[in-house]
Amino acid sequence: MEKGWALVTGASEGLGREFARLAASAGHSVILAARNEARLRELAADLSAAHGVEALVLRADLAEPGAAGRLWTEATADGRRISVLVNNAGFGRHGSFGAGGEVREAGSIAVNVTALTELMQVAVPHMRGHGGGRILNVASTAAFMPGPGMAVYHATKAYVLSLSLAAAEELRGTGVTVTALCPGATATRFFADADMGETWLMRLTPVPGPAPVAAAGWRAMLAGRPVAITGWNNRVFAFLTRLVPRPFAARLTRFFLSETGRPRPD
Ligand SMILES: NC(=O)c1ccc[n+]([C@@H]2O[C@H](COP(=O)([O-])OP(=O)(O)OC[C@H]3O[C@@H](n4cnc5c(N)ncnc54)[C@H](OP(=O)(O)O)[C@@H]3O)[C@@H](O)[C@H]2O)c1
Repeated sequence: MEKGWALVTGASEGLGREFARLAASAGHSVILAARNEARLRELAADLSAAHGVEALVLRADLAEPGAAGRLWTEATADGRRISVLVNNAGFGRHGSFGAGGEVREAGSIAVNVTALTELMQVAVPHMRGHGGGRILNVASTAAFMPGPGMAVYHATKAYVLSLSLAAAEELRGTGVTVTALCPGATATRFFADADMGETWLMRLTPVPGPAPVAAAGWRAMLAGRPVAITGWNNRVFAFLTRLVPRPFAARLTRFFLSETGRPRPD
């Protein structure tokens, strides 16, 4: 049976580009979705040349109502079978809750929560109908703790983790797997995009590049694991948050998300 297509959202930058590379190097033809079409085209040309796979570019602003449905319709046109969905597009906003930034926070909920859910809702029956498939949802270690300073972002990622674990359990034995990837801080455009300077989190913990993080997520997805936390420090941190009262976890996270006053190391 041919491998089927891999649909990667947020493929123009950071982790998404790495997921697209991993999919293409595994022999999947790829559908690359994001807003920056020029970046996607450049990546599509690279992947086709390097791996001999087809690479389709679909421009999508997933913050727009109905965008996920339109993306799925275009992705599955001409009888294309999607065997891998990487729900990676996402962003956050750094700053106090209720002190401006509401439009950005609404966009963050629309992309991180609504679009991700809508894509899963259409992918699951499609994959079941084709005998199986794999869904990789990019959550975050933010999913494990409330995030004062990034309150809405942390709440969106808690949703992604909860939804993924529930769906993974419901789908056990069907041939469709769902994996939630929970990376810690990773060196991508994410922090600049979130208007963040250097935080204590970045100062005190290792910040890997996107390639090893995406590779760990891809491996976990292939193994059908429901959740993967990358990096030993992140695994310890996620575990410790379960042992302390949640208000204390929030207090601790507030410190880690506060800025050191130095510029962000890029
Ligand atoms: N970097 C970290 O420390 C970290 C840690 C844990 C989890 N994560 C998660 O990892 C995922 C990827 O983030 P990243 O670190 O690779 O950040 P990034 O380099 O900023 O990439 C974010 C991607 O999401 C896409 N995107 C943003 N808004 C979009 C929209 N409205 N419609 C469609 N696509 C949109 C961007 O594409 P366009 O701008 O071209 O639309 C870009 O390709 C996110 O879900 C993020 O929450 C990141």
